[in-house]
Amino acid sequence: MTGPSVSSSTTAVVGLQWGDEGKGKIVDLLAAEHDIVVRYNGGANAGHSVVVNGERFALHLMPSGVLCPGVRSVIANGVVVDPEQLLNEIEGLRRRGIEAGPLLLSDRAHVVMPYHKAEDIARERILAAPTQSGAGSIGTTGRGIGPAYAEKVQRGSAIRIGDLLRPDVLSARVGTAIETKRPMLEQHAPELAGEACDADRMVELALGWGRQLASSITDTRRVLRDAVAARERVLFEGANATLLDIDHGTFPFVTSSSPSVLGIGPGTGLPPRAVGRTVGIAKAYQTRVGAGPMPTELSGPEGERIRERGREFGTTTGRPRRCGWLDLVALRYAAEINGIDEIALMLLDVLAGFDELRVCTAYRVRGRIESDFHPDTAELDGAEPVYESLPGFSEEITGARSVSDLPAEAIGYVSFISEHVGVPVSLVSVGPDRAQTIGLERGVYA
Ligand code: IMP
Repeated sequence: MTGPSVSSSTTAVVGLQWGDEGKGKIVDLLAAEHDIVVRYNGGANAGHSVVVNGERFALHLMPSGVLCPGVRSVIANGVVVDPEQLLNEIEGLRRRGIEAGPLLLSDRAHVVMPYHKAEDIARERILAAPTQSGAGSIGTTGRGIGPAYAEKVQRGSAIRIGDLLRPDVLSARVGTAIETKRPMLEQHAPELAGEACDADRMVELALGWGRQLASSITDTRRVLRDAVAARERVLFEGANATLLDIDHGTFPFVTSSSPSVLGIGPGTGLPPRAVGRTVGIAKAYQTRVGAGPMPTELSGPEGERIRERGREFGTTTGRPRRCGWLDLVALRYAAEINGIDEIALMLLDVLAGFDELRVCTAYRVRGRIESDFHPDTAELDGAEPVYESLPGFSEEITGARSVSDLPAEAIGYVSFISEHVGVPVSLVSVGPDRAQTIGLERGVYA
């Protein structure tokens, strides 16, 4: 691509922890200043809750910008699309009086078929079964994400969105995919195998989706190339989060895509220099859904208190999230991976009422102090957090609308994070509503 060397009109919003940081709220806020919002990775495993005028919207595949009138939504090639889910979301929004702005769907995004969801469940069952290796399940969302990406990488039997309009390609690929999966599904997910392995049914379903989505299907790379060249304001919305990155997360307890900014190139077809400002989203504490290491996890009443106050139950699966103190070792790592310019610190209000706030600034690993995050599950499993204690704040802050409304201890907490990570905190969120947001002029940066 020729054109601007660094795009100042584009913004990336990425999660810096294990997901559910509140990206949806920030994308929704920033969308008003953008022309296009782009999803580039993941699928319906993501769950974005956005609250507008007290009404909660749970989005899984639709870019969060869809709630902003006039903003175009793009689902780019790096996403794995469950068309059934996408059509349900479009219909759900319409029923609530929201006419989604123009939706552009990449012809090269891959399709999540019902047999991928069945395979996701079957594989989790196999992993959970007591075996000699004792691999253990990942705790996936069951949305078929891993199997759909695996099919893409295996190539021959994968279906892309453009294929939904090509009956001959579709039936050949569906047939091959089912042939490779049938034995496993019949053995490990028999209740789903019947429908998922019915090739005629699958082709009929897929052709139906194609008919309904046809007007949205296009080469989104060209659209985005032209938009960046014309200095349109493009917002890249990362789904899932950096510590779940297939390459740089806590493997194998990760998702199957690149949720960091590193995924934008392959996920859209734009060169790295197309990404301008990068906003990293972090909660004021730590959460995780599913299995995998989490050094600061709290199993007692403190974790319970965070879960209740933060309503920490999954948007996609409803599972209770594991909660713990903020892990600054991991946060600094995620900030590095993404090269973030600023942090939006979410859910600070949840921490009101704790006498002390603890933050993890290093790990003790086999007797050695380690402050440089290494995404190695065996190492992290044995990592004991080393905490610093900061004074808590007793008063509720959900009504705060400016820094001057925040107690000194809350500001101290934000400054500590900013200083430790080496990046300004540009925004603090004190509740789910758009209004419960405090913009920090030049950022709190001690
Ligand atoms: P999958 O993406 O469904 O394969 O799940 C793999 C792991 O990533 C599981 O631990 C999920 O709980 C987790 N995960 C995937 N997407 C999200 C998300 O958007 N928020 C939080 N956790 C997620």
